[in-house]
Amino acid sequence: MLESGLEQVKQYALAKINLYLHILGRRPDGYHELETLMARISIHDTLEIDLIPSGIEFTCSDPALSDAQDNLATKAARLFLDEFQLDTGVRIHLDKKIPVGAGLGGGSSDAAAVLSALNSQTRTHCSREKLAELAARLGSDVPFFLHSPTAVCRGRGEIIEPVRLQEDFQGVLVHPGFGVSTPWAYKTYAQNPSQGEPGRAFADFTLRNDLEPPAFSKYPWLPMVKAWFQKQPEVLDALMSGSGSSIFALTRTADERGRLVVRFRAEFGETLFAEMFSVAQRA
Ligand code: C5P
Repeated sequence: MLESGLEQVKQYALAKINLYLHILGRRPDGYHELETLMARISIHDTLEIDLIPSGIEFTCSDPALSDAQDNLATKAARLFLDEFQLDTGVRIHLDKKIPVGAGLGGGSSDAAAVLSALNSQTRTHCSREKLAELAARLGSDVPFFLHSPTAVCRGRGEIIEPVRLQEDFQGVLVHPGFGVSTPWAYKTYAQNPSQGEPGRAFADFTLRNDLEPPAFSKYPWLPMVKAWFQKQPEVLDALMSGSGSSIFALTRTADERGRLVVRFRAEFGETLFAEMFSVAQRA
């Protein structure tokens, strides 16, 4: 989503939720073989990306994330400039709204946004396949964010089959204020592999997340909130996203999600991250 001319770009980086996440086994490279239905949602970060004469400069609305060294957005910029041996620098400002360590792919989405912005700003005309290959080097979830807003992702997450959902969904997404480490979640799963509990079946998918059992056994707040959502009259069903710690509840209409978020805040307090979203169907 480019908003301005070639030299300076404002780019929205949407979060994702996993409508199902099936772990199919362990791979020789240590990763897990997946089949997961990912959907971009309306909650997003905003990046401002400028070409500058040299160097990579990074600022962030969240001071905790201001270290340019271990940031996926700056890693993406470095990778792109190095790969094509470009004689330019980049300045990135990240307005961070997507919670970190939340199973929402925030860092991955930021990285994909930087890759596509630089591809157009530097007029590199790198093919979609090459961009996806660079994205996969940055993380398993990054290639998804270069594609259509909903896709079935396989392999370690980097093999993308775009799909279009037959139904529209709204919802409420909550983040408890702590994160779940993705490597920890997969490692704990591998010690005791078991499927997540299947939820409601919709036209295109049945909700299920195989990373719920490890996350739920360590963090009891998560199943408690999921069960609370499942009891609310507006809620079709609820699930943890990715490796956690976000829980999302799906509703059919914007009115329903509005009532739900008000009730959630009254019950659990105003300080938690609790935001309404819609599932994005168009890029
Ligand atoms: O690829 P990414 O850096 O996002 O993965 C973070 C960690 O999550 C990996 O180091 C690995 O421990 C685990 N992982 C996995 N199988 C996947 C994706 C991630 O085991 N398909």
